[in-house]
Amino acid sequence: MLKPRPSIASLSPYHSPIVSRAGLSLDLNESMAGCSARVLARLRSLSATDVSLYPEREVGERLTANFLGVTPEQVLLTNGMDEALSLLFTTYLGAGDELLFADPTFVMYPMLGEALGAKVVRVHSGENLALPTADLLARISPGTRVIAIANPNNPTGLAASRADLLKIAEAAPDIAVLVDEAYFEFCGETLIMDLARHPNLFVARTFSKAYGLAGLRLGVLTGTAEQIDYLRRFSLPFNVNSLVLACLEEALADQSFVRDHVAQVKQGREQLEQLFAELGLRFWPSQTNFVLVRVGAAVKTFVDSMRRRGILVRDSSSNPGCEGCVRITVGTPEQMDGALQAIRDTLAETRGSSLLEFHPNVNH
Ligand SMILES: Cc1ncc(COP(=O)(O)O)c(C=O)c1O
Repeated sequence: MLKPRPSIASLSPYHSPIVSRAGLSLDLNESMAGCSARVLARLRSLSATDVSLYPEREVGERLTANFLGVTPEQVLLTNGMDEALSLLFTTYLGAGDELLFADPTFVMYPMLGEALGAKVVRVHSGENLALPTADLLARISPGTRVIAIANPNNPTGLAASRADLLKIAEAAPDIAVLVDEAYFEFCGETLIMDLARHPNLFVARTFSKAYGLAGLRLGVLTGTAEQIDYLRRFSLPFNVNSLVLACLEEALADQSFVRDHVAQVKQGREQLEQLFAELGLRFWPSQTNFVLVRVGAAVKTFVDSMRRRGILVRDSSSNPGCEGCVRITVGTPEQMDGALQAIRDTLAETRGSSLLEFHPNVNH
């Protein structure tokens, strides 16, 4: 009988994170403001030939390199950042090698590591969910090949300091250290300028969040030219589609769209955080386009009740340390008015049924 590799056969069945599109999707950390009008105009101007020819990724890599202040040899464009993670892990992780990360974090890390037959080593973050730098350093072993860190992190929204991240990169010169900057624009701290001094460091970005292009799929992996060359050798030549490549110049040029969107998100996340503080709920101060909040034991009732009000939020309670937590993406100002009211009403209802734990307003 035909059998897949054991590491694939033992994976849990895949479930799309998209639960439903009926209602306002505040569950997937997408841009609720759409994308730049200049990008949309470029998309609308595309011809049949633009679509019928194979894409030229290299042109996009030159544009992106120029924007990031690195050389084109240091940039690999990918089909969303998910593909960058897959290429990176495949390059450095063999069966039995160790993939090290702090949990909770982005769920794709263990999934991709397990598919490769790697040993997934999770270091639990403490109660404050901050990056446990000392514990991570202590868990580096001769078998560790990749350390993955989302900064800021998903689902916590927390950012670690550049100094801590560099400490990890410096402690592990023979280990690929990935800093996943999917939410960079909402935070502003980056390690891109540190690539030159740390040949084992990789920084990944995406156009799915602040640029509002999740549907077009474009990710960026940067590292030293030497290491990126290994990944380029086996990345599929036409992995990035011609539509997003045609839009890339406009997307990068329209920084005022990104700035305005980021400013709006920062305002919206403050509104969420203020509401949670007022309601006495524990939340984690976010550097991203979402906020993690602990609603308590009735988390499922909370999520269902929000859905009945037309708003989808993400139950994060299966992530270690996030019991009773939901992750809520920041919407546009108009959407936030409705979302804030829905949260108030839902909490009043669920608290009325006295299922929710009540946490005095502790800030962390
Ligand atoms: C931390 C993190 N990394 C990577 C990604 C994947 O982004 P992309 O849409 O570019 O595949 C996400 C998406 O939610 C994310 O939260």
